[in-house]
Amino acid sequence: MNSRTSVWRPVAIARGARTNLALLALLSAVFLTGWMAFAYATAPARWSLVLHAAGGFAILALLPWKSMIARRGLGRPWPGRWASVLLGVLVLVSLVAGLLHSTGLLVYIGPLTAMDFHVGAAIAAVPLAIWHVVARRVRVRATDLSRRNVLRGGAAVAGAAAAYAASELVVRATGMPGAARRFTGSYEAGSFEPGLMPVSSWMFDAIPRVAQETWRLAAGGREWSYDELFAFDDRLTATLDCTGGFFSTQEWAGARLDRLIGKAGSASIRVVSSTGYDRRFPIERAGSLLLATRLGGQALDQGHGFPARLVVPDGRGFWWVKWVSAVEADDLPHWWQSPFPLQ
Ligand code: HEM
Ligand code: HEM
Repeated sequence: MNSRTSVWRPVAIARGARTNLALLALLSAVFLTGWMAFAYATAPARWSLVLHAAGGFAILALLPWKSMIARRGLGRPWPGRWASVLLGVLVLVSLVAGLLHSTGLLVYIGPLTAMDFHVGAAIAAVPLAIWHVVARRVRVRATDLSRRNVLRGGAAVAGAAAAYAASELVVRATGMPGAARRFTGSYEAGSFEPGLMPVSSWMFDAIPRVAQETWRLAAGGREWSYDELFAFDDRLTATLDCTGGFFSTQEWAGARLDRLIGKAGSASIRVVSSTGYDRRFPIERAGSLLLATRLGGQALDQGHGFPARLVVPDGRGFWWVKWVSAVEADDLPHWWQSPFPLQ
C-alpha cells in the first residue's frame, strides 16, 4: 500500500460513514414528520409536510453517494446483504409513490392509492432499517458534529428545501394535478356528491352488515333505536380528509354527541364501532362532534358507516368512527389510546 492510498481510504470511509449517518437522521425525520402530518387536519400538517418533503428530497440527493457505499458493501460477503437490497427497494418504492402522489401523476393504483404504497412501503422498511443500522454499525466520531460538518449538513438541507420549493413551482406552473392538493396533500373527491365519495377504512375493517330493526346505540345510560337517532336533525358541513390521500366535503346530519350523553361529569368520550374499532375524545368536544345518520340528506350507506358514523371537524379520517354501536363517557383521559388506531 503506498502512502497515497493510506491517506485516501480513511477519508473516504469517514465520508461514507457521514452519508450513512445523514441518511439515518433523514429517515428518522421523514418518518416522524409523515406521522405528524397524519395526526393533524390543521396547519401543523402543512408544516410537518414541508419538513417531510424537504427531508425526502435530501434523501434523493444522497442516493448517488449511498449507491457507491452500497456497491462497495455488496462486494463483501456480508451475511444478509439481500435484506439491505430489499430495504433499498422499499425506500425507493416509498419515494417514487410519494412523488407520484404529490405531482398527481398517479394517485390511484388499482384499489389502492399512491399514498397507501408510500406509507405501506415505509412501514415495511422500518424493521429492515433497524436491522441494517445494527448489523452495519457506523462509528460516530466527534468530528462528525464539527462546526464545518454541521454547516455542511445545514446547507444540504437548505438545498433540499429549495429543490422541494422548485418542484412545487413546477407542479403549479405546468398545471399538474398536484397543483390542486389541499394543505394536507389530499385530493378533492366527490364533494357534495355523496355517491362519488370514496369508501375507505383505516386498515383492516371490513364493512359489517347491520340490521336496522335490531340495531341499538348504547349512549348516556340507555339504548337508542335507529328511528330515535334518525329523528335528530343537527347539521354540519365538514371535510373528511382521509390519510389515503383524498378529501371530501359533505353535508352531514344526525345527533350532536352532547345531546346523547347528557351531562355526565366525565373526562372523555369513547366512540366504539360494531367492528371493535374505537377512538376517544376530550369531553369538551362533545358539542362539536356529530353522530351522523344522513349524508347529503340521505341515509348513510353501509360503506360510509350505516347506521351511524361520527363526524369530526378538523380531524383526519381515522377519527370518523363508522358503524357506531356505543358512545361511552368515562373518567379516562382522552389521550389514553394509541395515537393511531391499531386495527
Ligand atoms: C435508505 C436507507 C438505506 C439503504 C437503502 C441502504 C442500503 C445498503 C446496501 C444495499 C448496502 C450494501 C449491502 C450490505 O452491506 O448489506 C449497504 C451497506 C451499508 N450500509 Fe446502508 N442503507 C441505508 C441506510 C444506512 C444507514 C442509515 C446506515 C447507518 C447509519 C447504513 C450503514 C451501512 C454500512 C456501514 C454498510 C456497509 C458498507 C461497506 O461494507 O463498506 N446504511 N447499505
Ligand atoms: C421512507 C420513508 C419516507 C420517505 C423517504 C418519504 C418521502 C416523501 C416524498 C419525497 C414525498 C413527496 C414530497 C413532495 O414532493 O411534496 C412525500 C410525500 C408525502 N409523505 Fe412521505 N416519505 C416517507 C414516509 C412517510 C410516512 C411514514 C408518512 C405518513 C405516515 C408519509 C406521508 C406523506 C404525505 C402525506 C405526503 C404528501 C405530501 C404532499 O402531497 O404535500 N410519508 N414523502
